[in-house]
Amino acid sequence: MPSEQANKPGIAVNKSNISIFEFSPEMSVGNETIDADHKAFFELAKLLHYTLSGGERGVIVLSSLAILEEYVDGHFLREEKAMRKVSYSNFAEHRLKHNQFRARIKAISEVFQQGITSAADDLPPLVVHWLRSHIANEDQRYKRWINNSAVDNRPLVYLAMEAEHET
Ligand SMILES: [Fe+2]
Ligand SMILES: [Fe+2]
Repeated sequence: MPSEQANKPGIAVNKSNISIFEFSPEMSVGNETIDADHKAFFELAKLLHYTLSGGERGVIVLSSLAILEEYVDGHFLREEKAMRKVSYSNFAEHRLKHNQFRARIKAISEVFQQGITSAADDLPPLVVHWLRSHIANEDQRYKRWINNSAVDNRPLVYLAMEAEHET
């Protein structure tokens, strides 16, 4: 069962607040690769929003979900490797937040794959609100700690594969 929170994605997305899908410079964590991951997340959430708004509930949503899960795995591992490398003091708490979000996405994906396709409708606002809040309140906190040499710059897909081997 999705958690209560997963059923309450927060503010709905509509024409007046469509800009919530935009990455803005103050979100930067000072590393181009991590910023690029975040931008890609926003783009994917936006794509999913437009796809679902258009009535699509089939294979395009399914493949977007697979990409989203891959992004989550790859990006979170990229951050966690960097935080571990610099012995970031808030590592455990940050990693827990990643794990909780990953579990929510996985639960929604599973419900969708069981045929309850309306489950995907929650995803764009959930992803974008979580992302904005997580970047502002968590990712910004490691900004002072990490440097470029701490960040694994390989493409996200490699990190996602590595994450799969870790679990
Ligand atoms: Fe992040
Ligand atoms: Fe993070």
